[in-house]
Amino acid sequence: MDQNNNQKLKDKLKVFFQSAEQAFQLAGNSSKLYELKTRFMGSKSDLQKIMKEMKNLAPEEKPIFGKWLNEKKQALEESYLSLFHRLKKQELEQRMKEEVVDISLPGPSKNQGGLHPVQLIIQQTVNIFKSLGYSVRTGPMIESDWNNFQALNIPINHPSRDLQDTFYIDSDHVLRTHTSPIQVRSMLAEKPPLAILAPGKVFRRDNDVSHSPTFHQVEGMFIDRHVSMAHLKGTLSYFVKTLFGSNTRVRFRSSYFPFTEPSAEYDCSCPICERKGCSMCQHSGWMEIGGCGLMHPKVLALSHINPEKWEGFAFGLGVERLAIVYYGIPHIKLFLENDIRFLEQFSY
Ligand code: DAH
Repeated sequence: MDQNNNQKLKDKLKVFFQSAEQAFQLAGNSSKLYELKTRFMGSKSDLQKIMKEMKNLAPEEKPIFGKWLNEKKQALEESYLSLFHRLKKQELEQRMKEEVVDISLPGPSKNQGGLHPVQLIIQQTVNIFKSLGYSVRTGPMIESDWNNFQALNIPINHPSRDLQDTFYIDSDHVLRTHTSPIQVRSMLAEKPPLAILAPGKVFRRDNDVSHSPTFHQVEGMFIDRHVSMAHLKGTLSYFVKTLFGSNTRVRFRSSYFPFTEPSAEYDCSCPICERKGCSMCQHSGWMEIGGCGLMHPKVLALSHINPEKWEGFAFGLGVERLAIVYYGIPHIKLFLENDIRFLEQFSY
């Protein structure tokens, strides 16, 4: 009876191992093979069920049978492993063939934004003046009439207000027409000696081919003892040489601003043609950058700085003008149009 049982169980198991081996061979890929292994050898497999029948065997036969079964199981396990590795290897080779990476191809572009050319020039200007010990100050775009005009020696009804066409918010407030009110804010808030730089957006009722109603200036102010036009010219000259190259020169033309005395407008030699004359500089060899001068004693006094003790120079730079020269931009309106074809030339 036991003998019979033994044989029957063995036969069943032989069929089981054979069909498992066959199924493994036909699996075709490693994940299917793994699935089959769980089906045939996992805890809920037929093998476990058949093994339960071992309890019907005679006790002396159990160890012999067990040994035989273990060998069979091990053989199936080994055949699974070698098949699994073979399939994995094949799959990897196939993938490597299909997923060839050409490392010489350019990578996907990131479409990264960049700074506007006006901001790039402001950044460079700030860095140059920082290297001279200046620090940056800012002010609001809506200014009091006092800060924008009166404290700068431009009284109400003074004819020089006509020099700047103003957007009025109300009778006491304007959209700042220049960055010069930041001079006033700094003088009122800080004690000399002072070396400040103030970039910002300004507004004027101007709109023609060469003017736009909003543009950018960078204001500079230096207050110390014994400050002269020579210091001013040296500073501006250092600035243009650093920005445009060491051959660039500065030229002063005498001018008038109510807040400086003496006053000048200053040009730099055209860095494009180096003073030979080109279309960018209208064949004059020079480009206008801004206004400057020695601070008017009245302006110092209005902001509670004793003009007997302190002297200063100030200057205003037109940022768009610098950017036009620096990047060779043909038209001031391009700065405001937000044309992506223009702007993306400055992203990096
Ligand atoms: N604020 C003047 C303007 O917008 C420019 C200027 C001239 C600024 C002379 C200054 C200066 O600081 O000293 O036209």
